[in-house]
Amino acid sequence: KKVVLAYSGGLDTSAIIPWLKENYDGCEVIAFCADVGQGEDELTGIKEKAIASGASECHVVDLKEEFVKDYIYPIIKTGAVYEGQYLLGTSMARPVIAKAHVEVALKVGADAVCHGCTGKGNDQVRFESCFAALAPQLTVIAPWREWDMVSREDLLAYLAERNIPCSASLTKIYSRDANAWHISHEGGELEDPWCEPSKEVWTMTVDPQDAPDEAGKVMLSFAQGELVAVDEQPMSAYQALMYLNDKAAAHGVGRIDIVENRLVGMKSRGCYETPGGTVLMAAYKGLESLILDKESLKYRESIGHEFSHVIYDGRWFTPLAKAQLAGAATFAEQVTGDVVVKLYKGQAQVTQRRSPNSLYSEEFATFGADDVYDQKHAEGFIRLFSLSSRITALHQADSVIK
Ligand code: ARG
Ligand code: SIN
Repeated sequence: KKVVLAYSGGLDTSAIIPWLKENYDGCEVIAFCADVGQGEDELTGIKEKAIASGASECHVVDLKEEFVKDYIYPIIKTGAVYEGQYLLGTSMARPVIAKAHVEVALKVGADAVCHGCTGKGNDQVRFESCFAALAPQLTVIAPWREWDMVSREDLLAYLAERNIPCSASLTKIYSRDANAWHISHEGGELEDPWCEPSKEVWTMTVDPQDAPDEAGKVMLSFAQGELVAVDEQPMSAYQALMYLNDKAAAHGVGRIDIVENRLVGMKSRGCYETPGGTVLMAAYKGLESLILDKESLKYRESIGHEFSHVIYDGRWFTPLAKAQLAGAATFAEQVTGDVVVKLYKGQAQVTQRRSPNSLYSEEFATFGADDVYDQKHAEGFIRLFSLSSRITALHQADSVIK
């Protein structure tokens, strides 16, 4: 028996290694670790750590470029934002991690995959839905839904009894999840929605109050929906995101503090930092506004709204997601041009936009004199546009104000 465990090097997944061996009759445990840009801190020494905890092998897979290029950018084209605010940072990373996890499992000939998600969250649903779509033959093991350990004390004691070294501390206040796009913070005082987040919550961005008094500026250039240059320098998808993260974080851009509806029914409170992503989304939508006609934009927005739930709920590997991504990609073909975003004390504001595909016409829109638009034409348009209201009113004489 072989199990591939999604391993982070933290306390939970360190305890899962011996627990699997004891509870799944001496199975071999292979650690899998996805590098989605969470940072060196989480990754240094991770192989040694996995082996010291009892794993037979540890596979670290670099998914950074793939994550940004094949997941984040296509999602930006849909404009998806969950419940009006959340830029879906954790949700977006789940499919690319699950896919690599399954690939490792198939490569080593494992019969099961295992994750350290709790039984109360979204992540268990997302990972397992991806596993179901990609490799339904694999058994899924979710220790948090099986064992009776409940606290960090329990997990530390479990490791100590087995003489397994662990550097994790007894107190860890927040549950965080980081990748190239964002970091999430949950738990601690945030569990009380009346409690303001303490300064220690935020790790990626400067406090907007302490941000420079001088505004920053960044120019993003898109070609057919793809980001091709930032500040006139061509960059890879991943490099561009890192560059935007640095710049936006320095101005305190990208913080949100929200209460959201989890897929499993409960509400949860979380703080998120998505500095570069906030700028990218604003820039993309700013450019789109110049290019898409009213009905196209309305339809693209409906795709974004629907897609936010598809991605939040872990339904990436479905025909629905494919259709929505294809729809958004079609609109994106028109999105070519430059956008300037101003960064100032937590705000990212589009201040300049231009495109060869722009439908914006100064000649038509001007408040000054023009010779392209005959205002008299509006009269007939409005009479027909409001005709049904007029007919209804004639039939319901009572509702007409006299
Ligand atoms: N609530 C967010 C989401 O569902 C963040 C989840 C964070 N996950 C974690 N394993 N700490 O997308
Ligand atoms: C977890 O429960 O494992 C993290 C939170 C979530 O998945 O929503």
